[in-house]
Amino acid sequence: MTDLNPQAKQMADESMVRNLDAQARAIWPQEVFLLRRYELPSQPRILDAGCGTGEASFRLAELFPRSTILGVDILDQHLALARSRYAHLAPRLTFEHQSVYELLARDHTFDLTLCRHVLHSIPHAERVIAELARVTRPGGYLHLIPEDYGMLHFARGALDPRDFWHEVSAAFSAATGTDLFAGRHAFRTLSAMKLDRISVDYIVVDTIRVPREIFATIIEAWRDGYSDAIGEFTKFSRDSALAYFNQMIANIRDPLGYAVWMVPVVSARVPNLSPL
Ligand SMILES: C[S@@+](CC[C@H](N)C(=O)[O-])C[C@H]1O[C@@H](n2cnc3c(N)ncnc32)[C@H](O)[C@@H]1O
Repeated sequence: MTDLNPQAKQMADESMVRNLDAQARAIWPQEVFLLRRYELPSQPRILDAGCGTGEASFRLAELFPRSTILGVDILDQHLALARSRYAHLAPRLTFEHQSVYELLARDHTFDLTLCRHVLHSIPHAERVIAELARVTRPGGYLHLIPEDYGMLHFARGALDPRDFWHEVSAAFSAATGTDLFAGRHAFRTLSAMKLDRISVDYIVVDTIRVPREIFATIIEAWRDGYSDAIGEFTKFSRDSALAYFNQMIANIRDPLGYAVWMVPVVSARVPNLSPL
């Protein structure tokens, strides 16, 4: 049977908490403009599916001060951290243990449904997207960040990071039943589901737009959380993975260096019900 949470160990590692904090600092300032595009009611109901430590959930609560937000995840330690960090926003912002494969909400509950940094890490992403669409009301929006590890570019040094990302992403996907190139494949899934207003936008996490330290912190957290698994699932040893990550981190910290992570944001509107 396919493991529905093949990255459970990495998600629970302390490096993931650092990573989610740095990712949100890097991404949110650009993501806000994409979120403001949606036509939402004055008191929107928002779902943050796979909310982790609540980095996006609390930023949504601040961005939409009259909203009600539910964050769901299957990792209780992330949920506990989110509840304690953002207790001041309860009961407008709440966190529950629920799986994105089987949400408890009724059909058509939410005006906006987010799923950030999850779909590439679990199998059957299309099943999850269908579940997210089910709980979103007609005329409501899906806002997805399906990562794609073919969209990271670093300078060549003694090692060529192109080889690393190409090989690692394909082998890791095959070993875990996931798609680490999910970013480029989400459009097809949304189109096949006949959703409206599908768009693919990019948040550019690079050494010009994002402080180098924040970008470097993301790659350091990946190094600390994923080098063991890369050693297990791919042709690269753990030590070799560490060497590649360290070179990428040095590239980011080099004041003359340039590096970029293109982060796809894939969104769509659930079509309005046709009149009887
Ligand atoms: C990389 S984190 C992203 C967290 C958050 N969305 C953010 O943007 O900061 C992925 C999260 O997905 C959660 N996850 C994995 N499988 C899940 C499932 N079946 N249902 C709900 N959450 C899940 C993990 O526990 C983890 O907290």
